[in-house]
Amino acid sequence: MITSTEIAGIPLSSYICNASGPKCTTYEELAELGRSKSSAIVMKTCTILPREGNPEPRLARVGKNSLIQSMGLPNLGYEKYIEFSKKLKKYGKPVVASVAGFTLDEYATLAHAFQKSGADLIEINASCPNIKGKPQIGYDFGQMRNLLSLVCEHGGKPIGLKLPPYFDPVHWDIMSELILEYNISFISCINSIGNTLVIDPWKRSTVIKPKKGLGGLSGTTIKPIALANVQAFYERLIGSVSIFGVGGIMNGIDAFEFLLAGADAVQIGTAFEIEGTSCFGYMEAGLRTMLEYHDFSSIKEAKGKLNYL
Ligand SMILES: Cc1cc2nc3c(=O)[nH]c(=O)nc-3n(C[C@H](O)[C@H](O)[C@H](O)COP(=O)(O)O)c2cc1C
Repeated sequence: MITSTEIAGIPLSSYICNASGPKCTTYEELAELGRSKSSAIVMKTCTILPREGNPEPRLARVGKNSLIQSMGLPNLGYEKYIEFSKKLKKYGKPVVASVAGFTLDEYATLAHAFQKSGADLIEINASCPNIKGKPQIGYDFGQMRNLLSLVCEHGGKPIGLKLPPYFDPVHWDIMSELILEYNISFISCINSIGNTLVIDPWKRSTVIKPKKGLGGLSGTTIKPIALANVQAFYERLIGSVSIFGVGGIMNGIDAFEFLLAGADAVQIGTAFEIEGTSCFGYMEAGLRTMLEYHDFSSIKEAKGKLNYL
């Protein structure tokens, strides 16, 4: 059974790794990912300057397996992650940098800086829903074009886009055309669903403090939306762009569904936040069981093999 895979030509020893955000901000957390069964070390989205993030409470559980959060990108600033990316090489697995700017120039500076780091892949976070007064670049196709023309100039390491969820086929069409035009190497979809509201009816209160309780939703509740986005991009990008599926993966069966929809690998956010590093092992085992059940001998063989009624 071959459960190794690759993203943008970079080999991954298994189908499952962490997603940017949960427990990947400090060096200790990243080293723990290095020692875990996560097949890559995806680092927290970084900005030019360190950030403390939004006031607490900024993360709350929704039902059993979902979260709402408005973290506000707490991170140590990009220079630390450049340093970490070099130190993390000792774990012998790919390191993924994740960057977000407050201006297009900042995005360009960050993408350029990580070209000279230990990172193997550079994920451009085009879908931060938590910064006051800023639109998500992923929802502004004009800005997206400007962003791509800037970050793709620097060459070298594969550049990918972390995308927000889209809900309209025309948006999938437009984004796919841009991704192909600018030779983006991989996409990670989806980020949390922005600006959702969870209310505690007993306290008559929002459950998080920032933005009048609005926050990004992640976990089980978003899985169908994530699957639809992976399927839509898989169909449109005709196998030329690698896809990280992200959103609501809680076990190996969920991971298998993303494989059928066309994902080359998956990233785990909420389940890792809730369960810790053990999630990578049991998801890998569950995925193997599903592959065996369906008589597939590798990830490659099963990819995109969704039956349509
Ligand atoms: C606490 C938390 C922090 C997050 N921070 C980031 C981040 O810094 N950068 C990013 O690209 N995505 C971030 N995300 C989104 C996740 O990477 C992921 O796209 C999303 O949560 C959906 O996957 P999941 O359902 O497995 O959590 C964050 C998610 C959570 C729950």
